[in-house]
Amino acid sequence: MTKKNSSIFHFAIIFILILEIRTQLSDESEFLIDRSKRGLTYVPKNLSLETTILDISYNYISELQMPDILSLSKLKILIISHNRIQYLDLSVFKFNQELEYLDLSHNNLEKISCHPTLNLKHLDLSFNPFDALPICQEFGNMSQLEFLGLSATQLQKSSVQSITHLHISKVLLVLGDTYGEREDAESLQDLKTQSLHIVFPSGKEFHFILDVSVSTTVSLELSNIKCVLDDNGCPYFENVLSKLQKNSRLSNLTLNNIEITWNSFFTILQLVWRTHIEYFSISNVKLQGYLDSRDFDYSDTSLKALSIHKVVHDVFSLPQGYVYKILSNMNIQHLTVSAAHMVHMVCPSQISPFLYLNFSNNLLTDTVFINCTNLANLKTLILQKNQLKELVNIVHMTQEMKSLQQLDVSQNSLMYDESEGNCPWARNLLSLNMSSNILTDSVFRCLPPRIKVLDLHNNRIRSIPKDVTGLETLQELNLASNSLAHLPGCGIFSSLSILIIDYNSISNPSADFFQSCQKIRSLKAGNNPFQCSCELRDFIQSVGQVSSDVVEGWPESYKCDYPESYKGTPLKDFQVSELSCNTALLIITIVVPGLVLAVAVTVLCIYLDLPWYLRMVCQWTQTRRRVRNVPLEELQRTLQFHAFISYSGHDSAWVKNELIPNLEKEDIRICLHERNFVAGKSIVENIINCIEKSYKSIFVLSPNFVQSEWCHYELYFAHHNLFHEGSDNLILILLDPIPQYSIPSSYHKLRALMAQRTYLEWPKEKSKHGLFWANLRASINIKLMGKAAEIH
Ligand SMILES: *[C@@H]1O[C@H](CO)[C@@H](O)[C@H](O)[C@H]1NC(C)=O
Ligand SMILES: *[C@@H]1O[C@H](CO)[C@@H](O)[C@H](O)[C@H]1NC(C)=O
Ligand SMILES: *[C@@H]1O[C@H](CO)[C@@H](O)[C@H](O)[C@H]1NC(C)=O
Ligand SMILES: *[C@@H]1O[C@H](CO)[C@@H](O)[C@H](O)[C@H]1NC(C)=O
Ligand SMILES: *[C@@H]1O[C@H](CO)[C@@H](O)[C@H](O)[C@H]1NC(C)=O
Ligand SMILES: *[C@@H]1O[C@H](CO)[C@@H](O)[C@H](O)[C@H]1NC(C)=O
Repeated sequence: MTKKNSSIFHFAIIFILILEIRTQLSDESEFLIDRSKRGLTYVPKNLSLETTILDISYNYISELQMPDILSLSKLKILIISHNRIQYLDLSVFKFNQELEYLDLSHNNLEKISCHPTLNLKHLDLSFNPFDALPICQEFGNMSQLEFLGLSATQLQKSSVQSITHLHISKVLLVLGDTYGEREDAESLQDLKTQSLHIVFPSGKEFHFILDVSVSTTVSLELSNIKCVLDDNGCPYFENVLSKLQKNSRLSNLTLNNIEITWNSFFTILQLVWRTHIEYFSISNVKLQGYLDSRDFDYSDTSLKALSIHKVVHDVFSLPQGYVYKILSNMNIQHLTVSAAHMVHMVCPSQISPFLYLNFSNNLLTDTVFINCTNLANLKTLILQKNQLKELVNIVHMTQEMKSLQQLDVSQNSLMYDESEGNCPWARNLLSLNMSSNILTDSVFRCLPPRIKVLDLHNNRIRSIPKDVTGLETLQELNLASNSLAHLPGCGIFSSLSILIIDYNSISNPSADFFQSCQKIRSLKAGNNPFQCSCELRDFIQSVGQVSSDVVEGWPESYKCDYPESYKGTPLKDFQVSELSCNTALLIITIVVPGLVLAVAVTVLCIYLDLPWYLRMVCQWTQTRRRVRNVPLEELQRTLQFHAFISYSGHDSAWVKNELIPNLEKEDIRICLHERNFVAGKSIVENIINCIEKSYKSIFVLSPNFVQSEWCHYELYFAHHNLFHEGSDNLILILLDPIPQYSIPSSYHKLRALMAQRTYLEWPKEKSKHGLFWANLRASINIKLMGKAAEIH
């Protein structure tokens, strides 16, 4: 272990311990002051009196004195690791009665003085340049002690005596660089600890004779084992291991930072095989040299699990097939070989007891375990982070693994081509991790039939094909970091209870998701580009209706992405008015009143003929205004008639029976060309004469009128007059409706006049006649003087 690595490792352990202790001391709320890595040269003075946890690690503090911490009466945890303290009198903690955890590791301590009242649970004095073991008599009174970290360059059985009656959970012993070869081999024998971790001097050949088989120890960890010079293997270390056989309680052995030859490696494996050890774990291994072919004796083992993690070796000097054969035929249940640059693994030569294989982070290809029938008991296979490419090959691999329940092929380059045929997955496969591959939508057509947990996050899936079937058992589906545009319902996954679909392209999750997914316990759909619109409002509402812990990350991970004006707004706070979203409401509030109004207007129009009244009233007012504008006196002097009437012969009955009587009753003088006929003049001359002597020209319009050529002429003259003299002397009475199309196209004037709609319409209903006449009279209303009487 390099210095940096070991300190990181150590720091991590401290952190975990802090967490543990914090949970143990959970009765009071903790007050943590973190002043680590501040370049401090002394203990800060202005600390709160409430401080329960003080971290001043990674500074340059060289002294710790009573006044520094005297006032911190509530202090429980003090971390001063990685400083420069050379001497410490533990009586400085006399007044910190609550102190339980003291980490003084990685300082320059050579000497400590002890104090009787201290009762710690955790005391770490490791990685200090102590010469002898820093164990005082007073430690014997720390009945609560759970962890003791020590360092020394020489060990003496006597120094351990004062703590041999304690049952410490874990002892860490760091042997200094000058730790010698001829120390007392038995010095640790009397220690009572469940877990012992010994760190040998790094970079030094292993020539130690220390007996580490402490009888109470269940778990033993040994770090820094280097044996590369000796051609005979690693006799000193082999000797240490062989003594472990004595301890029947020892079940866990961990070796860290080993630098040995291939031969020694297998010798060590063989040695451990015959002990009582059940869990053997080796990490950070550097292997070199050659490997002699020899047989591995698998008999008589207690071993259940072997883990080999992080192996560096020279591939070319290695008879690979031989190594793979030894590994694959191991008669244990759990085997891990990870980060070992392993390029292949062979099929066991007979039915293997393997239940769990973890070959993560290697260089395995699709050919691994092909047609391998001897892994019939295997339940879990982890091939994470290898070089797998074709999903179909993996499917065929599992086919022979009759017991396989869990398969992890994440972080490979897997793809699936539908044309490669069907997917006869192992029938018992329940959990499949295919995350971080390059799979597309088609993967849904290649899934195990009874799958319960499926991880497909970080692939290239755009949508779930609609016609997929057979996923009724699926309970947990992770589709995070794909390119899905829609939140799938649970139509095809009727048992789904966990769906993770964050970091996709979902803009409008459908609101009936929760309706379709009755069994959903957890939905994680945050960090999608939500489009804040009306549809989304429904989704937000439905989120509000489900129990609050179902939607994970709500509300902080759910934000509007579009439109621009809402970007970054949490969905929780997104609001649009009820009216602008709810079509039914919109109909009720806008369309319905509109309709009512329209109906009312229609009723008024049909039964009361409102438009006609309106037009009439309008004309009335216009006429009155026009009349006011003309120089009245002049008109009165020159004109003899109030009005000239032009009509078609077919309408003469109405003119004679209705129009004339009604007008003349009001003393309105009418010029009729047949009645006021001047002998010796042509009809046209008579008409013109009549028009010119009249204040107004009344035209009785009807389809008959339009047919009559004469009438058009009359109109023509009248119109001329109208324009030349600038006076609006035309009154049009529409006796019968004239459809626009029935007016011959040459009658421009008539068409224009009709289009202007400045005519009086003869109402069919008798009730309206009064208003009609009044209107008509009003438009002719002028008092005539002069010769009128003569003509009449
Ligand atoms: C204590 O002093 C340090 C530096 O002297 C300062 O950074 C820190 O904010 C102070 N803390 C309090 C609680 O006053
Ligand atoms: C341990 O504590 C007992 C009483 O609590 C005391 O009598 C004894 O002297 C202490 N031992 C040491 C080594 O301090
Ligand atoms: C031994 O190792 C196994 C597997 O790693 C673990 O579950 C167990 O807790 C360990 N036992 C001790 C005493 O550390
Ligand atoms: C596989 O082994 C590695 C190394 O021991 C470990 O970190 C990882 O968690 C294991 N994977 C699984 C899925 O157990
Ligand atoms: C695996 O078995 C199949 C038939 O069972 C055979 O076609 C194929 O060649 C075998 N593959 C290998 C690599 O042995
Ligand atoms: C799948 O593997 C990835 C690592 O590649 C891991 O983060 C994830 O938790 C695994 N999924 C499941 C469901 O175990």
